[in-house]
Amino acid sequence: MNIRSAKFIKGVVKEDDLLDDGKPQIAFIGRSNVGKSSIINTLVKQPGLARTSSFPGRTQEINLFLINNSFYLVDLPGYGYARLSREGQIRVQRLIYWYLLDSPYEQKKVILIIDADVGVTDNDSKMLYSLEDQEKDVVIVANKIDKIKKGVYSRQMQKIQEKVGRHKIIPFSAEKRIGIKELLAEMFDK
Ligand code: GTP
Ligand code: MG
Repeated sequence: MNIRSAKFIKGVVKEDDLLDDGKPQIAFIGRSNVGKSSIINTLVKQPGLARTSSFPGRTQEINLFLINNSFYLVDLPGYGYARLSREGQIRVQRLIYWYLLDSPYEQKKVILIIDADVGVTDNDSKMLYSLEDQEKDVVIVANKIDKIKKGVYSRQMQKIQEKVGRHKIIPFSAEKRIGIKELLAEMFDK
């Protein structure tokens, strides 16, 4: 799979307003600050396409990026500890759950991103169970592997694997550009 073009189409803030033009959607979900937007930028090789920030809660709408004129990468807001007002948090959580679990939209894949250094949190497990419940095609990405100390890497990956069960995990670093080929293969080659 070669990404030749990527363009921002729109940001969705309300529950009834999304594209439905039949093109496949691949969604990126995970805790606030885990690197969802960074991973999209890395995949499309455009550092500024999706906005990123070191403060959790950067992405607050559902952003759709059209790739090769043929499918969408969907950058979702994060769950967990977004630094937003109470109302902001509730609005964003409802939007995520609506899009992934209640809306008529289907995802070709849901890429669930976890922080490799932090490990699988309770919120990550809850999200995974909800996705499994709805029989979504989930791919798990362990981002920020560059932050793990070499000596504990294997043990840390093993701990993550134990918590996510049968799913394959793709070790990734958006910063160091590790895991891109493997993730693209999971996204498109089956
Ligand atoms: P929200 O939109 O707030 O939910 O966050 P997000 O998941 O989109 O995260 P974002 O891409 O904005 O990245 C959050 C922070 O993590 C930024 O400071 C990134 O530079 C950093 N980051 C992302 N990927 C990596 C990585 O692979 N390694 C390291 N060390 N930092 C990373
Ligand atoms: Mg983001």
